[in-house]
Amino acid sequence: MTESGNMMDNRRWRAAVVTLSDKGAAGEREDKSGPLICEMLRGAGYDVQKSILLPDEQKEIEKCLCTLCDDEKMDIIFTTGGTGFSPRDCTPEATMAVATRNAPGIAEAMRLASLKITPRAMLSRGASVIRNCTLIINLPGSPKAARENLEAVLPSLQHGLEILTGRTGECGQQ
Ligand code: MTE
Repeated sequence: MTESGNMMDNRRWRAAVVTLSDKGAAGEREDKSGPLICEMLRGAGYDVQKSILLPDEQKEIEKCLCTLCDDEKMDIIFTTGGTGFSPRDCTPEATMAVATRNAPGIAEAMRLASLKITPRAMLSRGASVIRNCTLIINLPGSPKAARENLEAVLPSLQHGLEILTGRTGECGQQ
């Protein structure tokens, strides 16, 4: 990947975007973050295969993440929303529940970069984990926050995906 985040090889990573919002799922609020993330990913060369909108229901989110990882074989999943302190916010819990390994550096990098923009960045509890051969990254819910967080890590993700999905050969056999 170049510094701008564009992919220069032939491998197009299979990506999914999941928006978590009670109001969005009820049709009471337009989901602007999901489409924005899809657009940013496509601009960086990702093959965005799925865009899903769900309420903040932990079991439902877990089931969706498992399907995207295990059946749909996504290389990477971005969630947006549900990372804050509201009693209904459960995206990090759902994400950690389906993880097979932690990958905390991505969430750390997003908060580090975001803290230079707003001190409120510390209020995102977003996680970054691996489930088998899939990377799952939680982004905050507002379009501004989602964009700022994604911009902070996007150029570095390809190297991680290359290692995760087969340079060692082990992931490719699953
Ligand atoms: N990160 C960046 N870069 N920019 C922002 O504006 N907003 C913060 C934080 N992270 C923000 C950010 C705020 S105000 C909250 S409450 C948390 O993300 C959680 O957002 P969520 O509940 O929509 O996921």
